[in-house]
Amino acid sequence: MSESIDNLRRLFEEDLAAIDGMESWKAVRDKYLARESGVITTELKKLRDLPKEARPAFGQAMNQLRALVEKKLQERLDEAKAAEASTKLQRIDVTRPGFPFALGSIHPIKRLQSEIEQIFVSMGFQIFNLPEIERDYYNFEGLNMPRNHPARDAQDTFYFDDSVLLRTHCSSVQVHAMEELKPPIRAISTGKVYRRDPFDATHSPMFYQVDVIVIEEGITMGDLKGMLDVFLKRMFHSDIRMRLRPGFFPFVEPGAEVDISCIFCSGKGCPTCKQSGWVEILGAGMVHPKVLRMSGIDDSRYSGFAWGMGIDRVAILKHGVDDIRLFFENDLRFLRQF
Ligand code: PHE
Repeated sequence: MSESIDNLRRLFEEDLAAIDGMESWKAVRDKYLARESGVITTELKKLRDLPKEARPAFGQAMNQLRALVEKKLQERLDEAKAAEASTKLQRIDVTRPGFPFALGSIHPIKRLQSEIEQIFVSMGFQIFNLPEIERDYYNFEGLNMPRNHPARDAQDTFYFDDSVLLRTHCSSVQVHAMEELKPPIRAISTGKVYRRDPFDATHSPMFYQVDVIVIEEGITMGDLKGMLDVFLKRMFHSDIRMRLRPGFFPFVEPGAEVDISCIFCSGKGCPTCKQSGWVEILGAGMVHPKVLRMSGIDDSRYSGFAWGMGIDRVAILKHGVDDIRLFFENDLRFLRQF
């Protein structure tokens, strides 16, 4: 009898020595201590078959064995936990430099947008934050583009319904500013505009614009030219030259297309300026008297100028990028260069 208990103990010691992880620890525990089928319970069931006088000694020996098994298993568990804790401690190297993590940066178009806003804020302009989803009136009608105007074609504009659309330019600032402010008015608005254009190297159905409006007594084309000169020199560099060509926009009269001397060849002629020495940069003009009147401005007293420019276009020129799509594809290899 005591021989079989000794045997059990030896078997247990062997199993204990073979434990090499939590799974095998649990298996050994269950093998010996499981309530229904554990080795110790099974052995204790034999008590019934023993002669009466042998039972107390057997019972006692089995209880001792159970206590031993429990103790040894607990020790084994404590050892394993301590070992794990100490290897974890060793793994913390407090002298090791921290992990570098990537700080995002401002998108080149957004950065240019705020640079432009800063230039105007420093000149006393008010910034209008205007909706991209706009009423027809602010995008077209109030800018002297009535119902039948070709620029309002569904081929060119994203419409929600008859009177709501995605703005096609930031010139809506003209109508909003004139409705909300009393002259003298100096306002700008920047942001996304949408047109039903293909997505190719020079077009995008969404791009960025800045629009400017100034209304005061006695404003002339000379003021427009002077202000453009200051702005373009700050935007590009101080020896940039500029020229105005007649251009048509329904909301200005007279209207002009503005070119700057090519920033790559300084006007000598290169592929970017198609050998002309000039690149078109923005549209401008004197606010049309009809537009002034529609927004409740007395056109016999006040006059003003307005101009609008593509911000992406400036980014393309400034950074020598030859495909507008690169700005909107969010390829980090491209964006990290800025
Ligand atoms: N809104 C015009 C465009 O998108 C630009 C413009 C603005 C022209 C203001 C004249 C005056 O092309």
